[in-house]
This record gives sequence, structure tokens and C-alpha cells, in this order.
Amino acid sequence: MNPAVNKSEDTLNKYSFNIEGGNFNDAGTVSTRIKSILKQKGLPNDVVRKSAIVCYEAEINIVSYARKGTVNLTITAETVEIEVIDEGPGIPDIEQAMEQGYSTANQQIREMGFGAGMGLHNINSYSDKFDITSEVNKGTFLKMIINNPQSTKDL
Ligand SMILES: Nc1ncnc2c1ncn2[C@@H]1O[C@H](COP(=O)(O)OP(=O)(O)OP(=O)(O)O)[C@@H](O)[C@H]1O
Ligand SMILES: [Mg+2]
Repeated sequence: MNPAVNKSEDTLNKYSFNIEGGNFNDAGTVSTRIKSILKQKGLPNDVVRKSAIVCYEAEINIVSYARKGTVNLTITAETVEIEVIDEGPGIPDIEQAMEQGYSTANQQIREMGFGAGMGLHNINSYSDKFDITSEVNKGTFLKMIINNPQSTKDL
């Protein structure tokens, strides 16, 4: 078991990860970690893939736009739940931010290949349930649920 995961977290199938805003060197590590946990638990490939995609997009958004954030992962027999909470500028118009192609990404972010304005749209389409709330000058809260159609019994 990876030493970064403490044992009680693992038994409860709950995990928590921190993300640092602006740190592009580590961008993507949380979704990679979540992917390997879900694989190790024997979840179906499709559930693993969707969970990794939504986590990756949310993670990149924190690195790109927020000061810091936390990802909480909860695995049950029927679902994967991913909560992403950040402290940052918040999103003034969520409807607009959800539109395909809308992006406020600066030059630096675009040079790294981000800023197509597809992240939130993709999170919404890969999640079976997606909630987003945001408060300007405070932060943003996302909750994604991916259903496990095979209902993995022994986690
Ligand atoms: N956590 C966040 N905090 C503040 N603003 C955000 C956050 N996430 C998204 N946004 C805003 O919503 C816009 C759209 O986000 P989305 O992830 O869809 O696209 P993007 O990050 O601009 O580009 P892509 O995800 O395709 O690389 C962002 O450009 C940004 O203005
Ligand atoms: Mg994005």
C-alpha cells in the first residue's frame, strides 16, 4: 500500500488529497493516484476511466485558477464519489463557465495545453451526477458521482 494513504482511510474506502494552486509540476498526480486506488479495488475499467477524467479536469482547474484545494474520494459498492473543494476566486457565472469553449485561461495556462474551455463540460458529461456551487472570492465546490453498474461487493 502506498504510504501516503493511511490505514483507517483505506478501510473506510475514503481518501483525501491536497492540491496546491499554481503547481503545474504536480498537476495530475491526484487523478493518477485515484485511478490506481480504483483499479486496485477491482472497479470496472469504465468506472475507473470516468473517475480519472473528472478528477483530472477538476484538479487542473485548481492548479490553474485556485489557491489550494482538497479532493475527497469515497468508494462504495455502487458508486465512486469525488468531492473537490477549493479556496480561490470562485466562478461568477457558472452557466457561462459550463459552456463548451468558454475559458479565462491566461497565456501560461494555454501554453501548457489547457484552456480549451472543455473541462467542466467534460466533468458534467462523464459524471452520472454533477453538482457545482461557487462563491466569488471564496471558492468552488464540485461533487461528482460515477455509478458502478456492476456493484463491486468486496472493496
Ligand atoms: N476551480 C475554479 N476556480 C475558479 N474558476 C474556475 C475554476 N474552474 C473553472 N473555472 C473557470 O471556468 C472556466 C471554464 O473551466 P473549464 O475547465 O471548463 O475550461 P478551462 O479550464 O478554461 O479549459 P480546459 O479545461 O479545457 O483546459 C475557466 O476558464 C475558469 O474561468
Ligand atoms: Mg479546465
